[in-house]
Amino acid sequence: MIDIHNHILPGVDDGAQDSSESIAMLQMAQADGIELIVATPHHFPIVRQDPSSYASRLRDQIAEKSRTKITVRLGQEIAISEDVPRGLLDRKLLSFEQSQYVLIELPFFDYPDWVDGVLAEICRDGFTPIIAHPERNTEVQKDPNIITAIREKGMLTQINAGSLLGHFGDAANETAIKLLETESVDVIASDAHSAHGFRLPVLSDALELAGRITGFSQVERMVSETPRAIIEGRSLREDVGTKSDSSAV
Ligand SMILES: [Fe+2]
Repeated sequence: MIDIHNHILPGVDDGAQDSSESIAMLQMAQADGIELIVATPHHFPIVRQDPSSYASRLRDQIAEKSRTKITVRLGQEIAISEDVPRGLLDRKLLSFEQSQYVLIELPFFDYPDWVDGVLAEICRDGFTPIIAHPERNTEVQKDPNIITAIREKGMLTQINAGSLLGHFGDAANETAIKLLETESVDVIASDAHSAHGFRLPVLSDALELAGRITGFSQVERMVSETPRAIIEGRSLREDVGTKSDSSAV
């Protein structure tokens, strides 16, 4: 399995506190059957100056010490704002391994009018947003069709394994299930923040449940084939059934 959303780098955000926690998380992920992780720290100021080399250094430190066979690649979880298109073009914000794919987080309690315009601009600039855990947004919880519309414009969606297990409340749980039922999910990822508590780098617990909702071959795509295409920068439009190209956004 491949986990494309994970706060495993030490001391850069609200994820792993230090390198020993990062290493524990890597070992836990390997035990769960995860072979590759994309580290996606929040774009806090600490990584803003030279995010790529800073994150690479941390990644190499923990990968060497953990003695796991997990490959760690780099991305970033980018909270949407009107500054994001410029930041991506200037390479101050990181796409996945400098590919076209960018992990974008919506606000949790709102869906402001400007969001669709900013997403459209990101697409026009040649990037493909992957919307992180849309099931946690209160407006999406009221109207999951927001996500259907986003996918029809060629963007991708990623739900959290923990949402399927009820770790983020009933509304997120019900919305994650609804998105699976309506074939509106491209990827399931851990969004792990710690080696303790409930935000663990573990996917397998949720897959049985997801498989019963959407079929096990679909779930396999969500944790393996689609994430692999993303980290290799391959186009997924045909693979995931998106309906239009980004120029239509
Ligand atoms: Fe996250």
